[in-house]
Amino acid sequence: MRDRGLFITFEGADGCGKTTQINLLKDYLEKEGYDVILTREPGAKGLGEKVREILLNYDGVVSDRCESFLFLADRAQNIDIIVNPAVAAGKIVLCDRHIDSTVAYQGYGRGLDIDRIKMLNSLATNFKKPDLTIVFDIDVETSMQRVGKDKDRMESAGVDFHNRVRDGYLKIAKEEPERIKVINSVQPIEKVFEELLEIVKKYL
Ligand code: TMP
Repeated sequence: MRDRGLFITFEGADGCGKTTQINLLKDYLEKEGYDVILTREPGAKGLGEKVREILLNYDGVVSDRCESFLFLADRAQNIDIIVNPAVAAGKIVLCDRHIDSTVAYQGYGRGLDIDRIKMLNSLATNFKKPDLTIVFDIDVETSMQRVGKDKDRMESAGVDFHNRVRDGYLKIAKEEPERIKVINSVQPIEKVFEELLEIVKKYL
């Protein structure tokens, strides 16, 4: 058991393979004896699951600001109820999407003001950032092929939107190179995992 927990977040386009990598990392860390918690945004256990359902499947009009606030509300709940208590107890928290998704999707993708989104993120997280963030980078064509025909509300936002999201992630990563590491995820799963492990081991 660690005396201080660790908070790692995973980001990237839909279909980038992050969920597979998170599960591989969880198995590896548990075998090494660490206490690991998995969570996700949107959709952390409990209330988050209800918010996720609205965000991904509601078929009426959703304003861009309303969409942002729903992601932020889900985030506040995840941080307060799941992430912070686990980190305080010395656990390693692996979170599928977090603050950078809102900057990439609602900021760069939808075109909302980036500084305002960052400010709202700070309020939702009580100004705490992850110890480490991994961005799984993938070109939009490959990611859309992986997602296939059965798209949710966000995945249906179009190629231009998703190109802006990808460029947004790469910009964010350049702004915070200490926290955010980019991995090319258009490689075999084992190769991506090898690169992921090399980065994560430095934080253990
Ligand atoms: P996923 O859980 O399957 O990755 O899907 C969540 C979707 O929600 C994905 O399309 C990205 C999007 N999203 C945002 O637009 N903003 C956010 O802040 C978060 C957390 C996710």
